[in-house]
Order: sequence, then C-alpha cells, then structure tokens
Amino acid sequence: MLNKIDKLMAEVAAMHAKNAGEAENLRIKYLGRKGIMNDLMEEFRSVAPEKKRELGQKLNTLKQAITERINSLKDQAAVTETAGPAVDLTRTPYPIPLGTRHPLTIVKNEIVDIFSRLGFTLAEGPEVEDDWHVYSSMNFADDHPARDMQDTFFIESHPDIILRSHTSSVQARVMEKQQPPIRVICPGRVYRNEAISARAHCFFHQVEGLYVDKNVSFTDLKQVLLLFAQEMFGPDTKIRLRPSYFPFTEPSAEMDISCHLCGGKGCSFCKHTGWVEILGCGMVDPAVLDANGIDSSVYTGYAFGMGIERITNLKYQVKDLRMFSENDTRFLDEFVSAN
Ligand code: PHE
Repeated sequence: MLNKIDKLMAEVAAMHAKNAGEAENLRIKYLGRKGIMNDLMEEFRSVAPEKKRELGQKLNTLKQAITERINSLKDQAAVTETAGPAVDLTRTPYPIPLGTRHPLTIVKNEIVDIFSRLGFTLAEGPEVEDDWHVYSSMNFADDHPARDMQDTFFIESHPDIILRSHTSSVQARVMEKQQPPIRVICPGRVYRNEAISARAHCFFHQVEGLYVDKNVSFTDLKQVLLLFAQEMFGPDTKIRLRPSYFPFTEPSAEMDISCHLCGGKGCSFCKHTGWVEILGCGMVDPAVLDANGIDSSVYTGYAFGMGIERITNLKYQVKDLRMFSENDTRFLDEFVSAN
C-alpha cells in the first residue's frame, strides 16, 4: 500500500487539465465515491493496527495534495475560460469598492450650495492664523476670555500665532482685500482647547457668512436665515431669534429652528421645548467694519456662523461627536446614499 501511495503522489504533480470538464473528471477519478482514494480507504481498514498511524498520515497528505492540485487546475481553467487567452494582468480588480463622502462634507456642501444660490461666493483662509485676524480685527478686547489659554491653541514661542477658533478670521481677510458689496460664505475647520467627549472636541467645523453693502438691514438677515432653514430642514421649518452677544456683531442673536423631529410639539431631542439652536448671527459691529478698512458711515452688514457638526447632528442624529473623526467605515458607510 505504501508503494501505491508513493506512486499516486508522483502522479499528482503531473496532473493537468485543459478545461474545467477535464479537471472535474480528475476529481471523479481520484476523489469521487468510486474513486481511487476511496479504494485506498477501503484497503486501509484491513491494515495491521501498528501500521495504521504511519499509513493514515500518508493517506491524508495524499488526499490533501490531490484536492489542492485539482482545485488549482479548476481555478486556472476558470480564468482562461472566462477571460479568454488574453488575460490583462494589469487590470484593476473588480469590483472597486466605492468610498463615501464624509457626512460633514455632505452637509457642508449642502450649506454652501444653498447660500451660493443666494449669491454668496466661497472664501477660505488659513487654519494657522494671527491674533489680529481671529480676535483684534473682530473687536475682541485684549482681555476677552476667548483669548484665554483655555480656549485658544497657541503656537509655542509665538504667542501671536494661533489655531483659529472661528472662521470669522476669513471674513477679516476678505474685508481687508475687498470693498463692498461683499457676500461670502466661509467654511472651515476651527480649533478650541476643550476636553474631548461625546459633546465637545478640540476641533470642529464652521460655516460663517458675511454680507456687507449699502442699506443691509436686520430684515435681510432674518429672511436669508429663514430661507436657509427651510431649504435645509424642510419648508415647514420655523425660526426664532433670541438676543445674544458677540464682540463682532451688534445687535446679536442666536437662532433656533422648530424641532424637525417632533415638528415643534416637544420631544426628548429638543428637551421638550419644541426648538433647537442652530446658529449665531447679528449686524456687523461698525467697529469691525472700520478696523477692516470699510467705512461704517457708508456700509452696514450682517454675519452669521454655525457649526457643521451641529447641523449634521440635527439632520442625522449622530449622538457622539467623536464619530466624525474616528474614520470608522461602519459609520461612514451609512452615508452612502446621502452622497
Ligand atoms: N464666530 C462665532 C462663533 O464662533 C459665530 C458667529 C459668527 C456669530 C458670525 C455671529 C456672527 O461662535
């Protein structure tokens, strides 16, 4: 029996098949119910007990070798049969898995799209900024708490160079270069020195808008924001403005929208108030216009700013802010259809 096994082992390497049919015939011949391997197994039963161990191992190796050889012959046959003789080995493998857009990009694009239909153009600026563009030109007093170490990331040894904590710095950069009419939308990443948790992160994304021209009024602001809210969250969305404070706007307001989950009736999402806050806004403080080279006796303007994460959370109910920066494809793949 040992001889038979050795002879068969030698046959294995020499096996060949021109097509899948021949490979299948080989399988039947060697591994089929009435095949050679089965005959050997029958023979094995009557082998003396002390030889069983050695022979059994050999039989297993043989069976494995035959199976692998036939499988590889089948694979080869399948390749030549489907691709024909001219196999292009440089071809990209299919299917190519499609990536998804990041949810923050999807929402940012949507926001930018809505405002560009209202005549706003895109403006972008650096994330590493100087104090002037982030704070001083925006009318922050020298001792304003936002400049504090707790909020702002400073570049070591350059106290004047910081990571921008809001995209208002881009507004400053636009105003210093351009005279009104100005109508820009500024999306971008901003940094604040906060402990990372489900509700806060050390960086997030904003979109700010600025409109400066003659006779720009608070009514214009309100109308544009109402239109934005209805485009973003549906035509039945209502808005509400509450008085607030920002150094760079006067008067200032925070805007709520009627909760789009319960339609304003009150639910756990809106803490049973029927309203959720989405942005800050106001009329550009004349001191900001003057500091940036725009004559405040001729021009007025409005500005608004919102967190993209916040808007995304409202649209998609993402519960944990950290999901946005962890690159977990299980999370990202949920936005395939939102592309
Ligand atoms: N810059 C403000 C912030 O970061 C947002 C804002 C922009 C508010 C413009 C009013 C007007 O919180």
